Amino acid sequence: MTLRHFLSTQDWSRPELDTLLEHAAAFKRDKLGDQLKGKSIALLFFNPSMRTRTSFELGAFQLGGHAIVLAPGKDAWPIEFDFGTVMDGDTEEHIAEVARVLSRYVDLIGVRAFPKFQDWAVDREDRVIHAFAKYSTVPVINMETITHPMQELAHVLALQQHFGTSDLRGRKYVLTWTYHPRPLNTAVANSALQIATRYGMDVTVLCPTPEYLLDPRYMDFARDNVAESGGSLTISHDPQEAYRGAHVVYAKSWGALPYFGRWAEEKPIRDAHKHFIVDEAKMALTDGGVFSHCLPLRRNVKATDAVMDSPACIAIDEAENRLHVQKAVMAALASRAG
Ligand code: CP
Repeated sequence: MTLRHFLSTQDWSRPELDTLLEHAAAFKRDKLGDQLKGKSIALLFFNPSMRTRTSFELGAFQLGGHAIVLAPGKDAWPIEFDFGTVMDGDTEEHIAEVARVLSRYVDLIGVRAFPKFQDWAVDREDRVIHAFAKYSTVPVINMETITHPMQELAHVLALQQHFGTSDLRGRKYVLTWTYHPRPLNTAVANSALQIATRYGMDVTVLCPTPEYLLDPRYMDFARDNVAESGGSLTISHDPQEAYRGAHVVYAKSWGALPYFGRWAEEKPIRDAHKHFIVDEAKMALTDGGVFSHCLPLRRNVKATDAVMDSPACIAIDEAENRLHVQKAVMAALASRAG
């Protein structure tokens, strides 16, 4: 059987994603299984995590498997990802060895590697996870790089369960940029755009200025998805217009791509849009809409206490679903790998 990774939901068909979501819902009802009995997963974190680490470790355990967590550069050797390099700097071993050695030990490899936020032309190549995928002989799972596919699945499952149907078409979905003191990864925003259009929703991207539009790769995926799913894609810089009649509000902060490497110039624009915070007044414009966020979230910066504590907030359900969807993905990949 050919080796299959889970690097992006775009690489998986809608029926395949639907099956994963059905299996995740089953794991939510009945948490234990033996799908990973005798199997193991290496979880490599190049960046911090609370939810991803906990839910992957616990998920592997609940399916009878074992997880090994590694933080390269901290508790494991720093890894070199460039090719042809004379490795006389800080890196101690090359990805060509790391991925192949881990593949001899474990059945799955998870990788979290955020962009470095210096040069988007380099970051958008997503080199770390693609290098793992190139050299690994076991399936590689994206635990957040320049997209966050596990969050996408958890998000869709939370929406399906909230609305009581797997059919999300026709719902107005607002992906809103929010203020944060630092420019953040665009991963979850890219992912929200991908998955909401994939599931046929009428998506509005609300952001301060055109400079905050997402990478053309993801805007193009969204347009392609809309053409296939029958949804729609709108860009707005007006919160009142965007929130009006919304069924879903999904918030995320991200840095404006044209300002990569010169964030001091972007800061005044970000600072001038603190009013993009998700608050009760904006939520009152929606059509009884739900609110969610991938978490972690800075309260009263991205969303108010009142929104976070309201019945409309499904962020905790979404976070719980990380456990269930990841079990579905690990079980599916492990069964393929034999
Ligand atoms: N949403 C998410 O991935 O959370 P962590 O960064 O805590 O893993």
